[in-house]
Amino acid sequence: MVIGKPLLTAEEIQAKVKELARQISNDYEGRELLVVGLLKGAFMFLSDLARHIQVPLTIDFIIASSYAKTDTTGEVKIHCDMREEIEDRDILVVEDIVDTGITLNYLRERFLARLPRSLKICALLDKIDRRIVDVPIDYKGFEIPNEYVVGYGLDYDNKYRNLPYIAIFKRSD
Ligand code: IMP
Ligand code: MG
Repeated sequence: MVIGKPLLTAEEIQAKVKELARQISNDYEGRELLVVGLLKGAFMFLSDLARHIQVPLTIDFIIASSYAKTDTTGEVKIHCDMREEIEDRDILVVEDIVDTGITLNYLRERFLARLPRSLKICALLDKIDRRIVDVPIDYKGFEIPNEYVVGYGLDYDNKYRNLPYIAIFKRSD
């Protein structure tokens, strides 16, 4: 297994995180946010993003995974649900990467069924070529090519999440 050189450096990521936080702070001025991170991948992005958001906020998490094969019937399993109420609140879902879109689409419908005041999605990475289900990304960090990436929360076999940068991951075999 080989980690290539950074696709996105720590500096590039941090600059983008600040820019996204600035947009979010402007859009939600005078309001209060419920920020929901999708674990485990979003833990690092969320912690950096939250540090720069200037409106009052509450943080909660969901652990979910999708068992997508090649079609839209990919099932999503919730391993650990959030604790906060959603009804009548301004929700910002924070995700590391949108790939097929199956996970986020499923969660989005689930959130909407609980009648939030508003629901927006913030994703650091968008692997747009892989999309199967269309899902609106309100705050997007970077569009990336169709390559498997690790670092800054993203894993391969639960490793490499701690890298401060994002790199393309290649099998050496
Ligand atoms: P989706 O339901 O296909 O959009 O799945 C998105 C999830 O797949 C993300 O939250 C990641 O956990 C995982 N994922 C997709 N692409 C990558 C990648 O390149 N590296 C690491 N995890 C990925
Ligand atoms: Mg994930």
